[in-house]
Amino acid sequence: MERLDKVISNQTGYSRKEVKDLVKNKRVMVNNILVSKSDIKVDVSKDIILVDGEEINVKKYVYLMLNKPKGYVSATEDRDMATVLELVPMEFSHRDLFPAGRLDRDTTGLMLITDDGEFAHNILSPKKHVKKTYNVTIDIPMTEEMVTGFSEGIKLIDGDCKPAGLEITGEYTGIVTLFEGRYHQIKRMFGCFGAKVVELQRIGMGDFFLPDDLELGECREFNEEELKSIIG
Ligand code: URA
Repeated sequence: MERLDKVISNQTGYSRKEVKDLVKNKRVMVNNILVSKSDIKVDVSKDIILVDGEEINVKKYVYLMLNKPKGYVSATEDRDMATVLELVPMEFSHRDLFPAGRLDRDTTGLMLITDDGEFAHNILSPKKHVKKTYNVTIDIPMTEEMVTGFSEGIKLIDGDCKPAGLEITGEYTGIVTLFEGRYHQIKRMFGCFGAKVVELQRIGMGDFFLPDDLELGECREFNEEELKSIIG
């Protein structure tokens, strides 16, 4: 059971004080009965809450996909730089959202933003084996030695990487699959072969791939099926 004012505030963006006024002005009903107090307890799985006759669609958590452009940092706040949260539509601004995992400032592509800590942990934990797929362009020709090195597990200064996939798709381009997410991981892995990453785009998480119609900078909610395809 949760407090009515908290539920309405979380779903609508009204402050608790505003919800109190809504209740006072007889604009809130629970199960077709006008309520007189804003701190009553409600069961969001059963109770029907109406504000001005409109049902509050209670979502415990929100899951958003963002096609991240360059120039944004994967953080909730930053003193100097724009964060990915600035690209989240206003209707979600009252939620405690955070990016699940990091993409470098100059990396583009699929990013999941949520307020569900457990879900975020599950997709990030190397133990859960959720694959992340990236399109990459480097400054020297791709080699079979890189493919073998990636599959055997590159040794980095902070420890050995798990085996990763590299599929060569062009002279300078490839598709990388990772099951973990270390700091600058792909850049450092190619660095071991004297290569510099010039473009990096995340295109998939689990079996979910960046939709063609999600423009750079666009952010929208996952539907249930899409979300399931991440974890499998
Ligand atoms: N690896 C990197 O080097 N950078 C990213 O943003 C993601 C993976």
